[in-house]
This record gives sequence, C-alpha cells and structure tokens, in this order.
Amino acid sequence: MADPSAAGRFADFYARRPPWDIGRPQAAFVAAADRIGPRVLDAGCGTGDLAIWLAARGRVVTGVDFLAAPLEQAQAKARAAGVSANFLQMDALAVGEIPERFDTVTDCGLFHTFDDTGRAAYVAALAKLLEPGARLLMLCFSTAEPGEHGPRRVDRSEVLAAFVSGWGVESIEPARFEVVPGIAGAEFTPGGARAWFASLQRA
Ligand SMILES: C[S@@+](CC[C@H](N)C(=O)[O-])C[C@H]1O[C@@H](n2cnc3c(N)ncnc32)[C@H](O)[C@@H]1O
Repeated sequence: MADPSAAGRFADFYARRPPWDIGRPQAAFVAAADRIGPRVLDAGCGTGDLAIWLAARGRVVTGVDFLAAPLEQAQAKARAAGVSANFLQMDALAVGEIPERFDTVTDCGLFHTFDDTGRAAYVAALAKLLEPGARLLMLCFSTAEPGEHGPRRVDRSEVLAAFVSGWGVESIEPARFEVVPGIAGAEFTPGGARAWFASLQRA
C-alpha cells in the first residue's frame, strides 16, 4: 500500500498547479512514441496529458492515479479533446490486480516518488501486468540534477538494480523533466530537471 503521507503531499500540490503539470506530454515520451504499443497503462497519470495524447494517437489507454482531483481534471481534458481514455483511481502498487494486460506502461514521474520498499513493490506489480516483450518506459529525476528539493534523485545503477530480475534494460538515456517555468517548486536546471529516460522490457 502507498505511504498515506504521500497522498497528502500530492493533494497539496494539486490544490494549485503542480510544477510537473506542463499541459502537454513530456518531450521524452513524444520522442519515444514509436515504442509505445497499442494497449497502454499510464501509471501515476496526474491530469492526463500523456494518456490523452496517446489516446488521440490510437492507443487504448488506462490512466491510474491514487488521487481523485487530478483524475477529474484528466476526464474533463479528455472530454474537451474528444478522446476516449479510461481513468482509474487506484494505488499504483496494486496495478498487478488489473485483469487486462498491456503492451506498454508509461511512468512519467512516479517511480522516483517511491522509497526503496515502494520501488520493489511497484516493480513487482508491473511485472504481473506486463507479459514477456512488453515494456515500461519511465522518466525519473537523475542524480545529475543538483539540489535536494523535489523528488528523490535516482542513480543509473539504481534503475539497473530495480529491474535486475525478470527485465531486460533496453536503454537508460539522459533526458530532461520539463516543469512549468516560474512557478513555486519548479526551481530546477533551466530547460528541465536532469532525468533518466529508461526503456525496460519484460523478459
Ligand atoms: C510527479 S506526478 C506526475 C504526474 C503525471 N504523470 C505527469 O507527468 O504530469 C506523480 C503522480 O503520481 C501520483 N502518485 C504518486 N504515488 C502514487 C501511487 N502510489 N499510486 C498512484 N498514483 C500515485 C501522484 O498523485 C501524481 O499525480
């Protein structure tokens, strides 16, 4: 089960505009669109920009988040865009209980929110959801981002360690995590916080 204090912290962020809520999918996912299969789960989907962008490009998308408020925004955005996407309120640590199977899980800023125990539980849940050959595409803050405010930084070796068993590491590339310029909490490297974009495939 997710740390209950995490839900409170995220609810505070969504009481105003969160720094990560840039109103479009992160460039790293747009660049990787050809690796995103037909059935997608967007884990920690927030207000749904990536899920909606993918649904508008023919993917069957389920977005999950543990908070109702961003999901309501996601549903409203999907309606306004005239696209169909399924949004579920649930703990990402329980996604293994979803009966469907997916070709791709997209994770834009969720993995880096977990502590070590949560990370292991999350990876185990994803392993239930993805059959051999299916992929996780993940964007997370990197230890190359200076300072300590914002999410936990992730070292390349930590990504490798988290997916050492039952996964193949296709790539772990330096990337940027774009934020809304000039708002509180968005004080990161200009051009976006230094991040990793990782492609992990189920063995
Ligand atoms: C950094 S935000 C990124 C949101 C979205 N992916 C985006 O790029 O705009 C992380 C999201 O994960 C959600 N989240 C955090 N822990 C979660 C958990 N255990 N289960 C489901 N959602 C979670 C938060 O509510 C938040 O919407």
